Amino acid sequence: MTRTVYVNGEYLSETDAKISIFDRGFLFADGVYEVVSVLGGKLLDFAGHMKRLRRSLAELELPSPAEDDELLAIHRRLVSENGLDEGLIYMQVTRGAADRDFLFPPKGTRPSLVLFTQAVALRDKPSAETGLRIASVPDLRWGRRDIKTVQLLYPSMAKMDAKRRGADDAWLVEDGVVTEGSSNNAHIVTADGVLVTRDLSHSILHGITRAAVLRLAAEENIPVEERNFTLDEAKSAAEAFITSASSFVLPVVEIDLHPIGDGKPGPIAKRLRQIYIAESEKTAI
Ligand code: PDD
Repeated sequence: MTRTVYVNGEYLSETDAKISIFDRGFLFADGVYEVVSVLGGKLLDFAGHMKRLRRSLAELELPSPAEDDELLAIHRRLVSENGLDEGLIYMQVTRGAADRDFLFPPKGTRPSLVLFTQAVALRDKPSAETGLRIASVPDLRWGRRDIKTVQLLYPSMAKMDAKRRGADDAWLVEDGVVTEGSSNNAHIVTADGVLVTRDLSHSILHGITRAAVLRLAAEENIPVEERNFTLDEAKSAAEAFITSASSFVLPVVEIDLHPIGDGKPGPIAKRLRQIYIAESEKTAI
């Protein structure tokens, strides 16, 4: 089935949708994006994703393509036109089309706005039962990873490298400490049950799922420490897991061929996945 997508004000079949060859997203990776998950046809933490979008736009001096309520209406119409029960909605915003120039185009250049859906199982994932195998990869990304830009070449290369090494995903490492996963936040649980996750800075994306999971962990009386952790600490942790809009919470059972804990998904990761899904369903719009 061909999807209906949204491009600059129009709802079109994906086969008819077009973007200029001069779009700065294409020429300079000059754009940002958001990914909102959908369960039961409803959007999870839409407000959180909009808040981060606004921050990404502001940090790059990118003009806003539309107000939040209009963006919400577009998300909802795509859910309904595509009969999306479970999956993801990608929203891409670029600085628009202009003659190729390293300098930003004149004020008033219209930003490009593209949204599309992807039907994908989120709730029932085999990896929630089996856990993920992770390979570590040097973090060679730029210094503003807190901005959700469309520059995804290095994360893509990191994931390919992990796959070639027989792993499911990559964790990025800088100066011996884990920054985050290729497209998710990385967390560990220590032997005495403390959830350790890297603190927020320019070094990592401020995950919307990370924030929700930390809130839920506090409600469950799971102690949380936001600090750097080394790859060695991760390898000898009791548990490890990732969070993102596309994976929710997924346990990690191996890092660089080294089993984590007893090599099976840990109880805290399992519990957090369960309550994250239950809570998200309750608050989805
Ligand atoms: N990735 N870190 C990075 C580098 C990411 O790309 C993502 C999200 C996250 C988690 O953020 P959130 O919980 O807000 O999804 C952390 C999305 C899902 C993607 O690119 O597909």
